[in-house]
Amino acid sequence: MSDTIIAPPSSNQAAPPLPADSIIIVLGASGDLAKKKTYPALFGLFRYGLLPDGIQIVGYARTKMDDDDYKKRISSYIKVPDDAVKAKLDEFLGMCSYVAGTYDTDEGFQKLDKHLADIEAGRDESHRLFYLALPPTVFIPVAQHLKKNCYPANGSARVIIEKPFGHDLESSRELQTALQPIWTEDEVFRIDHYLGKEMVKNMLILRFGNEFFNASWNKNHISSVQITFKEKFGTEGRGGYFDEFGIIRDVMQNHLLQILTIIAMERPVSFSAEDIRDEKVRVLRAMPLIDPKNVVIGQYDKSVDGTKPGYTDDPTVPEGSRCPTFAAIVLYIKNDRWDGVPFILKAGKALDSAKVEVRVQYKDVTSGIFKDIPRNELVLRIQPDESVYIKMNTKLPGLTMKTSVTELDLTYNRRFSDLHIPEAYEALILDAINGDHSNFVRDDELDASWKLFTPLLHYLDESKDIVPAKYPYGSRGPAFLDDFLASYGYSRELDGMYQWPTTKAGKTNGKI
Ligand code: BG6
Repeated sequence: MSDTIIAPPSSNQAAPPLPADSIIIVLGASGDLAKKKTYPALFGLFRYGLLPDGIQIVGYARTKMDDDDYKKRISSYIKVPDDAVKAKLDEFLGMCSYVAGTYDTDEGFQKLDKHLADIEAGRDESHRLFYLALPPTVFIPVAQHLKKNCYPANGSARVIIEKPFGHDLESSRELQTALQPIWTEDEVFRIDHYLGKEMVKNMLILRFGNEFFNASWNKNHISSVQITFKEKFGTEGRGGYFDEFGIIRDVMQNHLLQILTIIAMERPVSFSAEDIRDEKVRVLRAMPLIDPKNVVIGQYDKSVDGTKPGYTDDPTVPEGSRCPTFAAIVLYIKNDRWDGVPFILKAGKALDSAKVEVRVQYKDVTSGIFKDIPRNELVLRIQPDESVYIKMNTKLPGLTMKTSVTELDLTYNRRFSDLHIPEAYEALILDAINGDHSNFVRDDELDASWKLFTPLLHYLDESKDIVPAKYPYGSRGPAFLDDFLASYGYSRELDGMYQWPTTKAGKTNGKI
């Protein structure tokens, strides 16, 4: 194993790593995101010795809690398998403290600043990382109050923010306009947690570190690229929130589009944040607006056996809601590499399985010597069970010239021992601590992604006569999905022929 990536020149690094004795401040510390993601990720980093020495973690939220309640809450999602981890957790909780205060008055933030200053007493500099685990409604006032009341006079500050970054181009720009004068782009870390997932981080290495992928990665060899997001559960419990967004805003305009740009981008000049993000933005700018003809939407209904509710059965969902819980959207990239290749984004809730994967389907081989030989397919499984496999044709062993579909398979948990795949949030918080913006969304990138999606979103919002097709809870999606995909050249025939993990030598296809 070697450190094969050439480190970016330090001049390209937007900010130096946080030094020892810095403070991480979690705003919204009593909320769900903090409890389920932020604190477990901070503990994960601490446990592996990855937080700067002497770091302190301060929670801030409106809820009045005593120290015990706060610590119980922030550790409720942290797994403690044995005494050694329990001892680490106690040490971690010893570094955590809490301040209660409002989000819209100076008073609370002055109290927070005083608490931070007490921790920093006797130091020449203060370095603060603010993590905004907050609903979008309080986002701007908090960012403003932090700048006004808690910005270090001597030292540095950075701020991590989370989606939703608006709900269309206009609202996203409003947010940007409010943030820009107070926090510089170098200080802002916009999280898209998909960029912290192990397989997504592997994509640049797979693409540019392997000549056989590199050489065939274009319209001459690739027929379509499909990026699929499937969840087995519906919106149970958060239907009211989801209804304002819908599946396209919730996961497609951000998570899936991020994956698409990494799959499609040109080779960056270096692995520095700006070089990578420049190439991603170039892809977005080469994409024509989405044609509604290339879109289908669906909404889940009761399950076939009636045990699971339909989307509109949720009491928090407005009656007659047209909100899509499923969508398939085909995008194109007008450049030399990709012109004509459909990039299909497909996402849905309450489906038959839970997985996120990229499926790169190659073109048919030239016919003549083969009849009906299946296509190659490269699959990057992002979750669950990270793996990369290529479906390929081979001669069936034995006294035969029959062919069979088999695979070159890299399944992480079989290939790597002592496998520890960090949570996406661990990877991203560590990047923010290290001042590395590569896996965060840049302002122009955000703008370009909204530019691409906003006309479609407005069209769907406003066209009252467009209603999503119903699909049963637990199904593969709307019934017409396969025909829709087939119309973009996607071939599912592979699925029927392909057997995992072993193929009986008697079962073949691809006659000669
Ligand atoms: C979030 C969406 O951004 O991503 C959720 O708001 C979705 O609706 C979640 O469930 C999926 O994230 P993950 O990491 O579980 O795939």
